Amino acid sequence: MSPDAEQGQVREAIPVHGGLPGHIAIIMDGNGRWAGQRNLPRTAGHREGVGALRAVVTRCVELGIPALTVFAFSSENWRRPRQEVAVLMDVFMMVLNQETRKLHDQGVRLGVIGERSAFSSGLQQKLREAEALTRDNTRMRLTIAANYGGRWDIVQAMRQLAAQVEAGHLASSDIHDSQLAGVLSMADIPDPDLFIRTGGERRISNFLLWQMAYTELYFTDTLWPDFDGAALDAAIQDYAQRQRRFGRTGEQVASLMASRTSG
Ligand code: FPP
Repeated sequence: MSPDAEQGQVREAIPVHGGLPGHIAIIMDGNGRWAGQRNLPRTAGHREGVGALRAVVTRCVELGIPALTVFAFSSENWRRPRQEVAVLMDVFMMVLNQETRKLHDQGVRLGVIGERSAFSSGLQQKLREAEALTRDNTRMRLTIAANYGGRWDIVQAMRQLAAQVEAGHLASSDIHDSQLAGVLSMADIPDPDLFIRTGGERRISNFLLWQMAYTELYFTDTLWPDFDGAALDAAIQDYAQRQRRFGRTGEQVASLMASRTSG
């Protein structure tokens, strides 16, 4: 890539400093501890977590955030006690039954990423219906990562590219970042600008591994059921203070920003 072309790409990639993130990704952690602090079963925390998700979706819509992706169930969550997994599936079904219409009315397009074949046929059917109903909405993309893992995503993408190579449609020497990015689960949504993890842990936990290469990371001790619109605002304010460099020096980014402002 020529330096000019590269500069153009970097200029495109750097959002307006101090602006809102275009895509927020969240690990909603701390439901179990929230419930434990109240002597409630862990599953009560998951049910309470639905309210926090509704508050965050509403705030994102108000702010005009174009994309929100939440980690509802990881590929590794099957290791949890069977009864907790069953409740998480119930909660997922309940969210689809109770919230899809509201999301549709808010202009939200719902999508699900992850290996859905492991879900019951009823749940898979509900997912298809929710996606079909909201397909033409343009106000915000809400993506629920369910039975998702970042490594799974990269492996399924690699399999697609390998199949194209086997079929003679693609030369391995023509595989670059964009070919792989093009067959990942969220190929049509820009990479997250801001990642939020609630619940005090400071890990990415196999979430959007490829897509978060340059994402700004924000960790808070707030447990997910206590997270709300004001907490989201605090995370966005923190993000607005960051200078995103995408491998460049601070001076280079400042000069790119100055040239953008001047013309
Ligand atoms: C992590 O908390 C949370 C989950 C594994 C599930 C998240 C699910 C919801 C918030 C329900 C609503 C969302 C949808 C779309 C179904 P944890 O159980 O690991 O908490 P802990 O770290 O305190 O044990």
